[in-house]
Amino acid sequence: MQQAYGTLYEAIGGAPMIRRIVEAFYPKVKEHPLLAPLFPEDIRPVMEKQYMFLTQFFGGPPLYSDVYGHPMMRARHLKFPITPKRADAWLDCMRRALDEAGLSPELAALVLDRLSGPAHHFVNTVDEEEG
Ligand code: HEM
Repeated sequence: MQQAYGTLYEAIGGAPMIRRIVEAFYPKVKEHPLLAPLFPEDIRPVMEKQYMFLTQFFGGPPLYSDVYGHPMMRARHLKFPITPKRADAWLDCMRRALDEAGLSPELAALVLDRLSGPAHHFVNTVDEEEG
């Protein structure tokens, strides 16, 4: 059905917008006390993978799968302790990145809605004070 109305990828402006989102997002992740410790010092390779993944996730060309195969994103996140608070922190960094990238509030809400399911689905452990 989505194809009949175009993809989210096209709606947000394709490759240049995804690039801006990724460039705005990772500095926020690297500054976040709950997220920063999980990521490598050299964030560039992660940014490139995220650029490729979000491109296909929003309906653009399958850049990620062409190189890395089936995304299996939850499985790829299992080696990192993803708590409910970290999922919320990730989404909050993304919310601020979408704003900084210049996406309209309407499209930003759509993008966040598409990402919040996966973010919560990737939770694989409890927050420390609860566990
Ligand atoms: C829920 C909170 C999340 C946390 C804490 C988190 C954390 C991480 C970490 C630590 C890595 C590995 C970095 C490395 O290579 O060392 C990673 C990779 C990645 N994440 Fe997340 N992530 C989250 C949610 C998401 C979401 C919602 C998406 C997209 C739907 C996503 C997409 C990716 C991609 C594409 C990679 C690269 C995978 C690869 O290695 O091929 N992440 N994430």
